[in-house]
Amino acid sequence: MDMGLYGKTALVTGSTKGIGKAIAIELAKEGVHLLINGRDHEEVERTVREIKSAYPATSPQNAAADLTDRGQREALFQKYPHVDILVNNIGIYKIMQYGDIDDEVWNNYFRTNFLTADGLSRFYLPAMLKKNEGRIIFIASEEAVMPSGLMPQYGVTKSMLLSLAKSLSKLTKGTEVTVNTLMPGPTLSEKVLQIIEGAYPEEELSFSEKEKRFMAANLPQSELQRFIKPMEIGRLAVFLCSPYSSAFKGSPIRMDGGWCRPFFKCVRREECRFRLGFEMFL
Ligand SMILES: NC(=O)c1ccc[n+]([C@@H]2O[C@H](COP(=O)([O-])OP(=O)(O)OC[C@H]3O[C@@H](n4cnc5c(N)ncnc54)[C@H](OP(=O)(O)O)[C@@H]3O)[C@@H](O)[C@H]2O)c1
Repeated sequence: MDMGLYGKTALVTGSTKGIGKAIAIELAKEGVHLLINGRDHEEVERTVREIKSAYPATSPQNAAADLTDRGQREALFQKYPHVDILVNNIGIYKIMQYGDIDDEVWNNYFRTNFLTADGLSRFYLPAMLKKNEGRIIFIASEEAVMPSGLMPQYGVTKSMLLSLAKSLSKLTKGTEVTVNTLMPGPTLSEKVLQIIEGAYPEEELSFSEKEKRFMAANLPQSELQRFIKPMEIGRLAVFLCSPYSSAFKGSPIRMDGGWCRPFFKCVRREECRFRLGFEMFL
């Protein structure tokens, strides 16, 4: 199916690996010109060459930069002042005990997972609104709506993205621009792949046997009982970037393999009135 994206330009942050790379590849299949980003200039260049040789009708460009650095973000804006699609994908994550998360850790997560996406959106959104066309996608996580408690510093910053996306979506009222958040569950990025491959070293098991055993032991609540393939997220992102998704406005979109039951629950208006007794505010 032609997704109506041929000839568009997209910046996918953190697109040399994992989910970001899969999104970039799926967009390139639709004829989108990619701005490939990562901190390692050589790795970005390799990814650009890989995409160019697989999808020669497109013109991928090297947009290497450490996007947590404001100066490097501004240099990127000078070089690439226009994009039709912005996918805010970069994000750091690590299992941590709450007691070990000091101000420095909070600052690092806040800067990387939130401020970077905010800075890029603030720059690219106004031109999209002027043109009455454009897409911004935030890659959050199931941790945004159901923190597991294993990485509080991560879950908080992912919840912040949900809130920011909804606020930005309000600015798109009456336009064809959309701002949405995609919340993947456990996904088979290169990092996760290595962990599974290295698991159960004492036994002769195929990758899928290891994966099944790992899921049953560590993620029993998953209804999928396998990791999500980055390409599956890439295909969903293509739909969200396409003109067919205009009715998704400020939506939190879960692709988590049935992993999570959200703790942010919508209650009916009447229930709110009854519970709070502040009818005038509702
Ligand atoms: N994997 C999962 O199970 C999962 C689940 C839910 C949500 N997510 C979210 O999905 C997103 C991608 O995750 P992933 O697992 O695919 O990550 P990943 O494999 O670690 O890839 C991260 C990408 O971002 C780049 N990057 C990191 N810091 C950067 C910076 N400061 N400036 C520019 N580029 C930077 C990396 O390249 P360099 O290191 O070379 O810079 C790489 O290309 C994250 O936001 C994550 O929170 C992941």
